[in-house]
Amino acid sequence: MQERILEIGQAAKSALLALQSTEALLDWEVEYLGRKSELNAILKGLKDLSAEERRVVGPAANALKTELTLLHKEKETALRESARDWESEGIDVTAPGAKKPLGHLHPVTTLEHAVEDIFTELGFAIADGPELEKEWYNFDALNFPKDHPARDMQDTFWVSTKKGKDRFVMRTHTSPGQVRYMETHKPPFRVVVPGRVFRNEATDASHEHTFNQFECLMVGEAGEVSVATFKYLATTFFERFFGKRVEVRLRPSFFPFTEPSFEFDITCVLCNGKGCSTCKQTGWLEIGGAGMVNQRVFEAAGYPRGKYQGFAWGFGLTRLAMMKYKISDIRLLMSGDLRFIRQF
Ligand code: DAH
Repeated sequence: MQERILEIGQAAKSALLALQSTEALLDWEVEYLGRKSELNAILKGLKDLSAEERRVVGPAANALKTELTLLHKEKETALRESARDWESEGIDVTAPGAKKPLGHLHPVTTLEHAVEDIFTELGFAIADGPELEKEWYNFDALNFPKDHPARDMQDTFWVSTKKGKDRFVMRTHTSPGQVRYMETHKPPFRVVVPGRVFRNEATDASHEHTFNQFECLMVGEAGEVSVATFKYLATTFFERFFGKRVEVRLRPSFFPFTEPSFEFDITCVLCNGKGCSTCKQTGWLEIGGAGMVNQRVFEAAGYPRGKYQGFAWGFGLTRLAMMKYKISDIRLLMSGDLRFIRQF
């Protein structure tokens, strides 16, 4: 019986392939799928078969019926299309196809992916955090004093919440990602947190209320991760990113969440350190902040004091994009102006 089903299938398919008209298709349907078709007889007779036979024949017959029904539909469509009189419908089938406009990624997104690829190669995980952040993660856990000027209305978008509930801000940096990651992971680890950040600022060519940063965090047992580790990784990262030799320079600075803290510069990638208008003749470009994670931040994340050591650094992806693409006004990036975006 199984063999017969196969034979019916083959006969039906070659007959379908050969037929050219809707009339012929109708006959085909009657013969292979109709009430008096052999296949239908097999299906009707299933109930008289032994249970064992039914288990094999049933699925085979049903599958063939489904397949033939589908092929019938396809052929019907094909015949209908080929019967159309394109010319009288005013359709020129020889006309070249219209090009559909294709979208593409925003330049900052493209760079974000490139940065993620490099860090992935260097063994970093990639983590995420919310843009609407608790005051605790954005400030307190990072050791910002209660009266720190960064919490001011000028710098931070506060979101109104009920009295006595958690206070929320639009995150002002990606650093809260450090604490969130540490709460759920034990060292050693290395992770980057890309993301959009928000500042309550007057905008101009180099200030925007919304921009992109990257946070980078590497933590190990005390003594395992040092400033030298950071300097090596930062150099490696920027050399891969810009595709050329780059030097990293650290300058002493202050951040509440790192001790010691640094600002870091790289040799100007436009003039290779000779001095040009982009680096204001200094030969160096200011890139971001970094430092050894303050033990208070480890404590806020629930780690025991003194057990671990690590570095954190943060830099503006938007600034890198401006350097890489020589964009002179940061506001263009978020303007939504297609004449600008289409150039990338
Ligand atoms: N979060 C700082 C900012 O937005 C940048 C920063 C400085 C990040 C030092 C760090 C760091 O991880 O160690 O200005």
